[in-house]
Amino acid sequence: MTSTRRVAVVTGSNKGIGFAIVRGLCKTFNGDVYLTARSESLGMKAVEDLKKEGLNPLFHQLDISDSTSIQDLKAFLQKQYGGLDVLVNNAGIAYKGDSKAPFAEQAEVTLKVNFWDTLAVCEALYPLLRPHARVVNVSSFSSVMAFDKCSDAIKAKISNPNISMDQLKELMREFEALAKSDTVEQNGWPKWAYAVSKIGVRVMSYIQGKAFAQDSSRPDIIVNSCCPGYVDTDMTSHKGTKTVDEGAVTPLYLALLPPNVESPKGEFLSEKVVKHWQN
Ligand SMILES: NC(=O)c1ccc[n+]([C@@H]2O[C@H](COP(=O)([O-])OP(=O)(O)OC[C@H]3O[C@@H](n4cnc5c(N)ncnc54)[C@H](OP(=O)(O)O)[C@@H]3O)[C@@H](O)[C@H]2O)c1
Repeated sequence: MTSTRRVAVVTGSNKGIGFAIVRGLCKTFNGDVYLTARSESLGMKAVEDLKKEGLNPLFHQLDISDSTSIQDLKAFLQKQYGGLDVLVNNAGIAYKGDSKAPFAEQAEVTLKVNFWDTLAVCEALYPLLRPHARVVNVSSFSSVMAFDKCSDAIKAKISNPNISMDQLKELMREFEALAKSDTVEQNGWPKWAYAVSKIGVRVMSYIQGKAFAQDSSRPDIIVNSCCPGYVDTDMTSHKGTKTVDEGAVTPLYLALLPPNVESPKGEFLSEKVVKHWQN
């Protein structure tokens, strides 16, 4: 039977910042919290670890690179809850700085997971969002550093307040194509696939946030993106200076924004503060 109980989903939450976001939601969110992971065994192990802390997350498999997996989660949420109240798109990848993988491969794989697959999750699950739902897309401050290295022409496209999703997709495709011929820098982009993917996540959130702000059929749905800070996780080879719980603070703040707040909406935040492209 469909429940009207509130429900939250965090992608890529078997470890790292996502795991800490689930921990925080279990303590503060009034509803069911789903820890999701592409590996069922790693996900179940993470759920057990949180249960030992006296928390009660639930588990659902989700590989954001697998459309069947996304559709399975969607069908499950529809059937069990008839909607979705909090979505944290945290899953992401980064090649190590000393990776020997060709840049073209790094660009294709990184943009695929961080931008295109995150967008696929949004496109599948957004129809389930109920009024007052909160979406947090985990971007990175590297988006700001990469923006600073872009040509004025690319900067103008990225920060265009009227940018459409089609225009954003075109920008991401352009970067991927230039990466194949190793000519990103000659064409005004930084040679930094991860940061460009996070520019994509940030602009995607802006466009989605703006669209929801104009959707009177489902009031008060808010989409924001954020940087968690430099966090001690596998992604940073444990060089990050924040604990995962400290990294979860801004994502949790955005996931738990109270009903009918005026702002932030469609913004990018770091340390709970809105940041603009040129701050
Ligand atoms: N750590 C930082 O300093 C930092 C800074 C800025 C932004 N971020 C962002 O914060 C988010 C979390 O990063 P983290 O540092 O916690 O990284 P992490 O420890 O490497 O964790 C990444 C998580 O994403 C999952 N994942 C990767 N690909 C996936 C896929 N296709 N489907 C589902 N899950 C997938 C991983 O699952 P597996 O265990 O199966 O690989 C893992 O659970 C990322 O979006 C990252 O870009 C991190």
